[in-house]
Amino acid sequence: MKKPNIAILGATGVVGREILKVIEKINLPYEKIKLLASAKSAGAKVEVMGKILTVEETTPDSFNDVHVVLASAGGETSKKFAPEAVKRGAVFIDNSSAFRMENDVPLVISGVNDEDLEKHKGLISNPNCSTSQLMLVLKPLHDYAKMKRLIVSTYQSVSGAGLAAINELTQSTEAALKGETFENIKFKKNIAFNIIPQIDNFCDNGYTKEEMKVTNETRKIMHLASDFPISCTAARVPVYRGHSEAVTIEFEKEITPKKAAEILEQAYGVEVIDNPDKFEFPTALDAAHKYPVYVGRIRKDIAFKNGITLWCVADNLLIGAALNTVRIAEYVIKNGLYNTEKEN
Ligand code: A2P
Repeated sequence: MKKPNIAILGATGVVGREILKVIEKINLPYEKIKLLASAKSAGAKVEVMGKILTVEETTPDSFNDVHVVLASAGGETSKKFAPEAVKRGAVFIDNSSAFRMENDVPLVISGVNDEDLEKHKGLISNPNCSTSQLMLVLKPLHDYAKMKRLIVSTYQSVSGAGLAAINELTQSTEAALKGETFENIKFKKNIAFNIIPQIDNFCDNGYTKEEMKVTNETRKIMHLASDFPISCTAARVPVYRGHSEAVTIEFEKEITPKKAAEILEQAYGVEVIDNPDKFEFPTALDAAHKYPVYVGRIRKDIAFKNGITLWCVADNLLIGAALNTVRIAEYVIKNGLYNTEKEN
């Protein structure tokens, strides 16, 4: 089968750059690669697989000779360009939330629901970063003991909000250490030495959009009922990279912490670090730049019957974005789920 031409939309962004690294690392098969960004970055040079490539301004015609697009350029850019790419016969794998909940758009975590990719109609969505790491942990446990209820609290790093947010953590921390005042730009409250219990706008039900993304995307990916009980609190923490989550799951069937650990030890994309006696448990710093989702603190929950509570951390830019996007692209390419008739 002919290898596809691929395009990275948002190649200059935090996630776009990670996508390029993952493509190299897992040796994604492709014929040609095109780097796309806004007019501001046109002409910038980026090294990919030992070759220096020039970033191009994105226009609808950028997709004329492209088979697979890996996009991480924000919702508005995706809304503008995804239909143009699909119209031109390309598969558009999107990191933004723009199309995630649309019925005919597969929302996929590689290793959890790859089979949903088979029925794509051009558009594929990558889940929210907090949902992504959670799915790899929940799916094998759900397969064994059937989930009944889920409660999640997230502790999300600033890189999930892009380059400007990373810079704001540095600058506000420097200002705080010097005793200077700092005017917040990206965040609603000062992020230095603080925790902000708000990510994205508030919905009518009092939850934030981020919290409802975790709720609704989990239901969609795991094919749960549309009213399956899930409650999420999402907070931003002064960490550069790596999201942490405290997760409480009530199951239909009894499941011991030992059994849960055994299942997770065998699970795709998951590593268990759980030795309380030696104070061994995963933290965001341990997960940064790594591919697995790390799980620890697995214990019997004392508030629910058949409950398990655990802690999981992962690199939000990788499993929560770039790595999963490239894994989806790999599945699409290896299974010929793109327009193989389109000219190179
Ligand atoms: P650029 O660097 O030219 O602005 P981040 O989330 O790290 O801020 O990255 C966002 C990515 O999306 C960047 O690569 C950015 O390119 C790209 N981008 C933003 N707006 C557009 C647009 N209108 N068309 C194409 N790419 C865009």
